[in-house]
Amino acid sequence: MSRMSSNQPSINDVARLAGVSLGTVSNVLNHPDIVKDSTAKNVRRAIEQLGFVRNDAARQLKAGNSRAIGLVVLDSSNPFFAELAKGVESSAAKNDFQVLLGNSGHDKKRERGYLRMFQEQRLSGILLSPVEDATKNISQLRDLGTKLVIVDQKISADLCCSVSVDDQFGGRLAAGHLIDQGRTKLAFVGGSLEIPQVAERLAGARAAVIDAGAAIGLRVLRARAQDVISGRLVGMDILKMPASERPDGIFAANDLLAVGLLQAFAVSGRINVPGEIAIIGYDDIDFAQSTVVPLSSIQQPAELLGSTALALLQDEINNPEHHKHQQVIFQPSLVVRASSLGKVARS
Ligand code: RIB
Repeated sequence: MSRMSSNQPSINDVARLAGVSLGTVSNVLNHPDIVKDSTAKNVRRAIEQLGFVRNDAARQLKAGNSRAIGLVVLDSSNPFFAELAKGVESSAAKNDFQVLLGNSGHDKKRERGYLRMFQEQRLSGILLSPVEDATKNISQLRDLGTKLVIVDQKISADLCCSVSVDDQFGGRLAAGHLIDQGRTKLAFVGGSLEIPQVAERLAGARAAVIDAGAAIGLRVLRARAQDVISGRLVGMDILKMPASERPDGIFAANDLLAVGLLQAFAVSGRINVPGEIAIIGYDDIDFAQSTVVPLSSIQQPAELLGSTALALLQDEINNPEHHKHQQVIFQPSLVVRASSLGKVARS
């Protein structure tokens, strides 16, 4: 077994100190029942004295039966992905799998780095919430024999399983709710439209506006990213607008953006939510209900997305010959709280 690094004791060092063969040390590690007690005790003493740690990756690489899976999320600072990872991990633990977590931070280079490292470690499979449209790089991963499930993004090709939420329907729900509250000057606040989830939510909002007729307007206010600070910056831009040009209803592409908007308006003390501007977010993360004005949102079953993705990956790992790829799509739901409640008469 190769040394893991220059200062880490190897299995050779253990065998030498214990005065036994490499095979005996390997048996003590993997099949202790076939080793004489006195010999096993001697080897264990040498392991302890040297501080030897077995190189599980190398062992699993040789055996091809890693019990580890990789999960690459888009943004580990977003509670949505923490809840998704919780669903993966709790389900993995029940099935004696370990989860290695990577965060791409919406960066394609970092995503590629994690995928490469997880492949080199010969993990059993990978769950990926992609930075961009996943179809582009799924085939490369599949060609290398990597078992993969795409999470939080619909994929058109039947190249692997995917688990996602109908974001167009979610966008339609959000904009439709603002329209039902009598809002006519809507704004969509979102990060890059390269993020398929964001683009799909906007498409759904546009569909709701078209259905509602000409009296409703919808403009897009681009945020620098999908986080609280970016939402706050857009909020500050809205505060600079003349009151007559401000939106009266905002659909934020996720709850972090909505929290930033709420913070900007609350700190300024110049815009009342929902009176002057109603706000709805997306994800329904845990603290959406405890924001300065409890936030309306579109609920995504984050933990269920995670546990379902793991179940699909496990099926492919355990039953490769019978496994059939599936595209599982969950429906989001509307959660109404104070930030958008209150009908206004249409002028
Ligand atoms: O940041 C990307 C968004 O897509 C997250 O907020 C979550 O909604 C995911 O679906």
